[in-house]
Amino acid sequence: MSTNMSLSEISWADFQALSLLEKGAYFQGTPPHTLIAQQFTRAKLDELCTLATRIKRINKRREGANYLKTLLSDKRAMLYFAQPSSRTYLSHNAACQILGLDTMDVRDSKTSSEVKGESPEDTIRTFSSYADMIIMRHPVGGFAERVAWMLAHTNREIPVLNAGSGADQHPTQALLDVYTLERSFEKIGGIDGKSVVFVGDLARGRTVRSLAWMLTQYKDVTLYFVAPESLQIGQDILDLLDAAGTNYVVTQDFTSIMPIADAIYMTRIQDEWDVAGQGRTTGSSDYHIGAEDMHLLKDTTAILHPLPRREEISTDIDNDPRAVYWRQMRNGMWIRAALILTTFGRQDEANKYYDDYKPAS
Ligand code: CP
Repeated sequence: MSTNMSLSEISWADFQALSLLEKGAYFQGTPPHTLIAQQFTRAKLDELCTLATRIKRINKRREGANYLKTLLSDKRAMLYFAQPSSRTYLSHNAACQILGLDTMDVRDSKTSSEVKGESPEDTIRTFSSYADMIIMRHPVGGFAERVAWMLAHTNREIPVLNAGSGADQHPTQALLDVYTLERSFEKIGGIDGKSVVFVGDLARGRTVRSLAWMLTQYKDVTLYFVAPESLQIGQDILDLLDAAGTNYVVTQDFTSIMPIADAIYMTRIQDEWDVAGQGRTTGSSDYHIGAEDMHLLKDTTAILHPLPRREEISTDIDNDPRAVYWRQMRNGMWIRAALILTTFGRQDEANKYYDDYKPAS
């Protein structure tokens, strides 16, 4: 995939007509943007996972933590979250702090001049005047791509990180999910060859949509999609899996799949996307995992959840070593620090520090 494609050289209409894989080439240009899962290759995922662990280890000692804070002390990040968030906002903010970036934020559009009629485009251009990076969550699918394209047509093109867009993409969540799977399986051969089971609201779960595609980068994985018919994974994702040659099974039978799962990825009902009078409006999932199910699982099965959860995972399994969702959440801070450092091209400095000082694990 070429990395020299510039967003400034393509019209918005032509850009929108590209496939997700074709768009990836534009997002790896200069500056690199993180907008869709499809821009990540296996090599890039391996590089980010290794760097995340190195940053984590360097950060354990005070001199290491102080060193990390120098790496991006000349940069400022704007966190623009036009949708609610706890983990994604806080972990990006913490990742910035680890690397010494100062941060600014707008967490509610009602507190910005958008209420005076300023367009979203002008709002973003305003942010780019003060910041060196925009980390953004927005309810409109594809808006982060529009922002990156729009900035490419100004004299201040800065990197954009998509922290969740519409119901379609959540690429940095997928990164932390991949990192968590890598770490969970590090003693049993990594992600290659594993069976990953997605459960719940797969139609509107942007984390599942991004992660399912990222897992196509691993050899011989099998993906299981467990959901009621009305909430099953979209055909567009299944088409991408077919094109990538990734095995998958679509089913409603969770119990029979549990014993073969290497990872179970639970999700809540995404009822914030319900349209009044249309489709499903219940807030509870048809699927649940609790203490009564744990005997069905392998000793090595990893249970993940992007969180927040409702009742689809009982709190009574929180302390089971197979329940990795709290670790998964913390992993988000390390992999986002790795991503941000790489976005600014400063990863070699951290890798050199690690090689020189070899911090203990
Ligand atoms: N997983 C996730 O995106 O959580 P938040 O909505 O709390 O950021």
